[in-house]
Amino acid sequence: MSGRWKVLVVDDEMIVREALVDWFMKAGYDVEGADGGQAALDMLDRKDYDFIFLDIKMPEVDGFEVLDYVKTNCPNSMVIMITAYGSIETAVDAMKRGACDYLTKPFEPGDLACLLERLLQQKRILDENAILREQVASRVRCEDLIGASHCMQQLFELIKQIAAFDSPVLLRGETGTGKELVAKAIHATSERCAGPFIPINCGAFTETLLESELFGHESGAFTGAKRTKKGRLEMAEGGTLFLDEIGEIPLKMQIDLLRVLQEKRFHRVGGNTDIPIDFRLVCATNRDLKKEIERGAFRQDFYYRLNVIELEIPPLRARIDDIPVLAQHFLERIRKETNRPVAGINQQAINVLKNYPWPGNVRELENAVERAVVLAKGHFLTKDDFAFLFRNSAPDLPHSLRENEKQHIERILNLYGWNISKAAEALEISRVTLHSKIKHYNLISCNNRSGGSQG
Ligand SMILES: Nc1ncnc2c1ncn2[C@@H]1O[C@H](COP(=O)(O)OP(=O)(O)OP(=O)(O)O)[C@@H](O)[C@H]1O
Ligand SMILES: [Mg+2]
Repeated sequence: MSGRWKVLVVDDEMIVREALVDWFMKAGYDVEGADGGQAALDMLDRKDYDFIFLDIKMPEVDGFEVLDYVKTNCPNSMVIMITAYGSIETAVDAMKRGACDYLTKPFEPGDLACLLERLLQQKRILDENAILREQVASRVRCEDLIGASHCMQQLFELIKQIAAFDSPVLLRGETGTGKELVAKAIHATSERCAGPFIPINCGAFTETLLESELFGHESGAFTGAKRTKKGRLEMAEGGTLFLDEIGEIPLKMQIDLLRVLQEKRFHRVGGNTDIPIDFRLVCATNRDLKKEIERGAFRQDFYYRLNVIELEIPPLRARIDDIPVLAQHFLERIRKETNRPVAGINQQAINVLKNYPWPGNVRELENAVERAVVLAKGHFLTKDDFAFLFRNSAPDLPHSLRENEKQHIERILNLYGWNISKAAEALEISRVTLHSKIKHYNLISCNNRSGGSQG
C-alpha cells in the first residue's frame, strides 16, 4: 500500500544511495536520489517529498543543515537520518532537532520494511490530525465553542444573528452540552461584550441566600448583613446576566424577577430606593419547563418573558460529527497543561468515541480525553486507551483500598508530569510520604516505561 509516496534519498556514498533508491523503486515509490547536501537543497526548492532519507556526514553541506532547512521550509516532510553503525549519539541529536527516525548502516531490506511501516502509520495519523487541527482553527469555532456538525454550525449562525438584539435567551440542553459556553459566546458576540458577563447558578443557594445574591442587600437588612452588598443583577450592569438552572428558582422570586425584567429597576433586600438597571438576560435549564408549569412549579408568565429566543443545544450523541474535532481540541489543551508526550488520536479510537452514547455529553468527553492522555502508554491514543468507557462502572473501581490508592497516586503523578512537589501538594501529603508510597507501590514514570517506543 505504498501508493505514490515521494521519497528523496540523500547520501554522498553511491552504493548506499543506489541501494536505497533501488529498493524504493521496486516497492513502487516515487523516488529520487541526491549525491550531497547542496543537491538536496536544490531539489527541495522545487518539489515536496513525503520522506527524506538523509545521511548525516557529507562534505560541504551536511545532514544537519539539510534537516534544519526541511524543518523550516517543508514542515510536512518526515526526515529519517542515515547513520553509520556506532554513531547513535549523532542520531539522537538529529531526533532532537526534528528528525522522526533513523536508519543504521549497513541495513537489511527487512529493517527498511519495518521502518517504513512505522513511518507510514505515523504519517497517516499526523495527516489526519493536521486536517482536524485546521478545522478546529477555522470555521468550526464560534468564540470558545467548537462544533463541526450541521446543528452546531446552525447554532453559531443563530448566535451571530441574535447578537444585535437585547431579547432574553433561554438555553435548553442536557447536562454538559455546553450551555454556559453558549451563554458566554452570546455575550462575547453581542454589543455588550465590553460589559461584564455575570453567571449565577440558581440551584446552588437556599432561597434566602439566592435572594441576597441576586438582589444584594442593604446593611442591617437581616442579622449578619453588616454592610451593603451589591447583587449579581447590579454587577451585570451594561453586560449579560446568566441565570443557570433557572428551573430551580422559587416561585416567589420568579415574580420578583419578572417585575425586574419588565420595569428594568429593582431594590436591594432591606432597601426601598429603586435602582435602574440595564442588562441582557440569558437563562439555562436542563429541565422541561413546560412540564414544570403543568405541575405548578414554574410560572407561565415568567416563562414567556424568558423564552423570547429559545436555543436548543442537542446532546452530543445527536451530533457525532463534533466528536473528532472536540477530542482533538481537548487533547491539545490537556497535552499543553500536562506536558504528556501524546501526539494525536488514531482513527480506530475516534470511531470508538463516535459509538459511545455520552450521557454526560461534552463534559464527559473532555474528562475521558483527559484520562486517556494522562494514562496513555504510547504516543497516540488508541481504542485501548478508551476501554474504560465500556466497562461497567462497578468493576472499574477496584474494591481494594490499596489498589485505589495506588491508582490514584499514579494518576496524580502523571497529571503533574512526575513533579514530586506539585503532586505531593495536590495529594495533600508530604514529599517524603509520596516518595515512600512510590517505592511501596513500585510506581514508574510513563516516560521511563515506554522508553520512547511507539505504542
Ligand atoms: N462546543 C464546545 N466546544 C468546546 N468545549 C465545550 C463545548 N461544549 C462544552 N464544552 C466544554 O464542556 C464542559 C461543559 O460545558 P458547560 O459547562 O458549558 O455545559 P453545561 O451545559 O452548562 O453543563 P451543566 O448543565 O452541567 O451546567 C466545559 O468544560 C466546556 O468548556
Ligand atoms: Mg452549566
